[in-house]
Amino acid sequence: MDKFLIWGGNKLKGEVQISGCKNSVLPILAAAMLGDSPSRIKGTPWLKDADTMILILESLGMKIKRSFNGEVVIDPSELVSWEAPYDLVRKMRSSIYVLGALLGRVGKAVVSMPGGCVIGPRPIDLHIKGLTQLGAKIITRHGYIIAEAAKLKGSDIFLSGTFGSSVGATANVLLAAVKAEGTTVIEGVACEPEIIDLVRFLRKMGAKIDGEGSPTLRIRGVKSLHGAEYTVIPDRIEAGTYMMAAAITGGNLTLRNAAPSNLESVTDKLRQVGAIVTLKSDSISVKVTKKLKPADITTLSYPGFPTDLQAQFMALMTITSGSSVIVEKIYPDRFMHVGELTRLGANIKMDNGSALVKGVKKLSGAPIMASDLRASAALILAGLVAEGETTVHRVYHIDRGYEEIEEKLSQVGAKIKRVKSN
Ligand code: EPU
Repeated sequence: MDKFLIWGGNKLKGEVQISGCKNSVLPILAAAMLGDSPSRIKGTPWLKDADTMILILESLGMKIKRSFNGEVVIDPSELVSWEAPYDLVRKMRSSIYVLGALLGRVGKAVVSMPGGCVIGPRPIDLHIKGLTQLGAKIITRHGYIIAEAAKLKGSDIFLSGTFGSSVGATANVLLAAVKAEGTTVIEGVACEPEIIDLVRFLRKMGAKIDGEGSPTLRIRGVKSLHGAEYTVIPDRIEAGTYMMAAAITGGNLTLRNAAPSNLESVTDKLRQVGAIVTLKSDSISVKVTKKLKPADITTLSYPGFPTDLQAQFMALMTITSGSSVIVEKIYPDRFMHVGELTRLGANIKMDNGSALVKGVKKLSGAPIMASDLRASAALILAGLVAEGETTVHRVYHIDRGYEEIEEKLSQVGAKIKRVKSN
């Protein structure tokens, strides 16, 4: 398993190019299956999760060509299977997107149940509820979701759950509803930019959808969809991570191909802690010249502070001049990074689903273990500022969601090296 060696203390300076959005491209690749001609998706990042989705689509019969410039061409003309097997689904929860897409395409799907996850329980009740209301009969047996619909029919669906709206359930129901007979109105949908991106792609394929970005989506089912050319939005979580990399190292970074309007809650917090954030139409600059102040955050659905940047923000708070409280409202157990940050000298106490972080003068390098994608990013950020050498083990998590992270960081002055192992 690869590991990163990081020597902290360098201020990051320069420009970083932000990649296409992981969480947009995954449902968009699945959506391409609904067309009756090829789609061309531009801006697909080279990430393990995109590889996994491509492998799943290929196993269903799609012909896929991937180029180094980020273009993926999906020819959906042949479907040879409607089963997404455990071996692929277990690698990535968002494989579940093929459930809605297969139902929309052939009215049947057999998809392995995505299992538990290190960031806490991740139920799929809302996916099942929405698809059932469209007319699918769904059972689970031997670890598989087995879904069938003689005909999908438009319906009024309320899709919000205990933790609010669900990105995945919204996408899945949308994928099934675009070709359902009649009109579907979904209330309580996710307003995340990745859902807006999916809607825009589906609309280019010929779908009739209104309301993206609001809590209500209205879908008028169409008989067929065609392939489309589409460029995915920049990855707001990758951009947010580099914003915090600039801040934690007291550096000065400009992020190109960023989408500032999707990062307002993050920009607001960074300004509150004393960073100078300058926004242009497609770039974000973050500069820090003095000791950072603490700030509290509560993670919420969009446009609130994203759970996918909670760990990175916590890393930043470990070296401020005071105390901050971090409350996680999307995944109450998403705190695996706390113990590892503590190993670097951070002062963090957990209390009933929230973390109290007391800023320390400095962190000191140590061997630490990455537990999931965003926790890994937080540990790398901490390593960039910790005194001496930090070794981050199990960096395969990072390859799921950050394109060429060590190259991008090295180009702006970080001392980071990947040590390959078999
Ligand atoms: N939820 C339910 N029932 C469901 C589905 C979700 O109760 O049927 C709950 C979840 O347990 C959670 C909340 O609803 O408390 C939100 O979950 P959501 O369904 O929105 O999450 P997701 O679609 O599984 C996506 C991202 C995650 C990101 C969340 C929240 C993708 C591929 N994944 O997951 O990204 O944290 O939305 O914004 O889009 C990551 O990139 O590292 C990552 C984990």
